Amino acid sequence: MLEGPKVPNEKEFEKVLEFLNHKLRPEQGWSIDKEYPTVLNMANRHNMNIVMSEDRIVSHAVLKTLIVKSPHLIYKVGAIGSVVTDEEFRNQGLSHKILNESLNSAKQQNCDVAILWTNLYDFYRKLGFELGGYEISLSFERTMAYDSAQYKYSKDKNVSVEALAKIYSQHSVATIRSQDEFRKFLSIPNTQLYTVWNLNGTLAGYAIEGKGADLSNYIHEWGGSVTAIKNLLGYISHVKNHPFHFIAPRHSVNLINELRKYADYVNEGYLGMIRITNFEGLALKIKKAFRNVGVSDFVFEKSNGAILFGCNGDLYTIESEKDLIPLLFGPVDFDTQDIFKPETAQKLKTLLPLPLWIWGWDSV
Ligand SMILES: CC(C)(COP(=O)(O)OP(=O)(O)OC[C@H]1O[C@@H](n2cnc3c(N)ncnc32)[C@H](O)[C@@H]1OP(=O)(O)O)[C@@H](O)C(=O)NCCC(=O)NCCS
Repeated sequence: MLEGPKVPNEKEFEKVLEFLNHKLRPEQGWSIDKEYPTVLNMANRHNMNIVMSEDRIVSHAVLKTLIVKSPHLIYKVGAIGSVVTDEEFRNQGLSHKILNESLNSAKQQNCDVAILWTNLYDFYRKLGFELGGYEISLSFERTMAYDSAQYKYSKDKNVSVEALAKIYSQHSVATIRSQDEFRKFLSIPNTQLYTVWNLNGTLAGYAIEGKGADLSNYIHEWGGSVTAIKNLLGYISHVKNHPFHFIAPRHSVNLINELRKYADYVNEGYLGMIRITNFEGLALKIKKAFRNVGVSDFVFEKSNGAILFGCNGDLYTIESEKDLIPLLFGPVDFDTQDIFKPETAQKLKTLLPLPLWIWGWDSV
């Protein structure tokens, strides 16, 4: 007899962790909640969903809501993770049921979109997700020079979270985080913090590599000026003496252009798989953002089951919300699409594709 999807009760919470450790982290010396301290915890229990058979947990997924500020709009994003079904219970639709429950819950909590990271593209397409957004990955295989006269460097984790939070807050697109969250993230196993300091002792920048079982040799979070980051990567290349990758949002144009000079490879990928969870709310936010930049004839609405998208009379009809993902978040090039008149493409490009980014510590 299967029970659920349901939210685990307090007693079942420990069993959820045991199930996830057994299925997803069999080889690790730590419990998975240490990797996701703000997600797999009692305070977020209401966003966990499980299916049980007798006393056993057989399927699970968790949602974490994030408030992401960006230059023109503030998103509420539902990040979904730790999706797993016991081998014995697969192909019975349990994950589909649980994920639909997580998506309902995201909608109820006013999330504009849900996001997840996976390579099971077709599995998630059936649930309305599509690949979208941008992620630029730069690979460094050789050592790079760094300036020791202007900056000091460290790999000591004992850094004030106030200083880190201050640099983080300068990002144009970032999840709103408390200092306590920074403290928790810093204690994730296999997380290495590298810092660069001005000679007067103030923090100039930071870079974070690794996150539990994931993102080894990936710098998935960083902050500071282009010069500070470039020099910090030089320091890291000497300390590690091992190839590493640096992940950046596409809107970090100046930094990416500078780092391209030193990178061995540059790859443009997707941010993740994205699904719209609240069309009306998101459409309202985007229309308002367009009005704020002086584009008052932007059309984005549902009519007879289809979605109308464009400006004034130059409209494109879209059948499914999934097809909106590249138009809203990229990858898209309005100039080469041949869908819109040049003047419409020009207007759409004032805001689209919208910059959306989730820093590594917030990924689920
Ligand atoms: C991926 C995973 C979570 C799927 O779990 P699941 O409970 O078997 O998923 P579902 O049963 O809902 O869907 C699996 C397949 O069965 C199909 N299915 C859905 N409902 C069904 C039903 N009622 N009866 C039979 N099959 C069904 C689905 O369409 C899906 O087909 P697809 O693989 O061709 O897309 C599971 O294989 C797993 O735990 N893998 C290891 C961990 C992992 O990779 N997690 C994902 C990380 S993002």
